[in-house]
Amino acid sequence: MSALLQVTALTAHYGDFQALFGVDLTLDPGQTLAIIGANGAGKTTLMRAITGIARVTGGSVLLDGQRLDRMAAPEILRAGVAMVPEGRRLFPSLTVEENLRIGAHARQGSGFWTLSRICDLFPVLRDRRDHPGTALSGGQQQMVAIGRALMSNPRVLLCDELSLGLAPVVIREIYAAFPTIRDSGTAIVVVEQDIGQALKVATMVHCMMEGRITLSGPPESLGREAIHDAYFGVRHG
Ligand SMILES: Nc1ncnc2c1ncn2[C@@H]1O[C@H](COP(=O)(O)OP(=O)(O)OP(=O)(O)O)[C@@H](O)[C@H]1O
Ligand SMILES: [Mg+2]
Repeated sequence: MSALLQVTALTAHYGDFQALFGVDLTLDPGQTLAIIGANGAGKTTLMRAITGIARVTGGSVLLDGQRLDRMAAPEILRAGVAMVPEGRRLFPSLTVEENLRIGAHARQGSGFWTLSRICDLFPVLRDRRDHPGTALSGGQQQMVAIGRALMSNPRVLLCDELSLGLAPVVIREIYAAFPTIRDSGTAIVVVEQDIGQALKVATMVHCMMEGRITLSGPPESLGREAIHDAYFGVRHG
């Protein structure tokens, strides 16, 4: 069986600065992959390279065998890769419902996710649907950002730092939606600095440092020491 998403030898640059150095990863249907790493490791750049926002300078990204790395960002979204960006980025002048409906513009045909199903997933959004997105709590805004991405009925959902700035109880509430998302047929990639949360949901973990994957494996196989070294570099002496 071929992979749903196959990233091979991916490099990316900001001007002359190289941010990714030959990243390889594979995502199978039904899988949840976690990417962890310290500040500046290249996690966001990897998400942005896959979704056509950062400049890819080498390697390839395949979705079901289809080459994404030569497509523009809107085409990649229509092909089935959606991202929940770092910092949520809702449209401040639009209501919750309008923010969600924007996600549907990239939809191809019919699919599982509708406004109603997203409100079933996060019931608070049904109550708040006429509120401006920015009148919500951080956790509720994150739910809208996830819902907006799901409205395109993606094959792959990339989530960048969902936990950032949220209370533990809210983080748990958001991650509680993951089984339903996976069961809908959408594979998930989460980027997290919160390692504990990432290890709990992931079927496979990749640790990044300085633009490279330095450690990979199923969460139960990765020891604390190994993660520490892959995260911060191996300590000498
Ligand atoms: N727009 C940009 N222009 C130039 N350099 C950038 C830009 N965005 C990121 N970088 C650099 O690329 C490297 C990787 O950054 P990236 O944001 O991908 O890391 P990250 O792992 O997501 O970090 P964080 O955990 O802080 O979000 C860093 O050295 C960063 O300074
Ligand atoms: Mg980042």
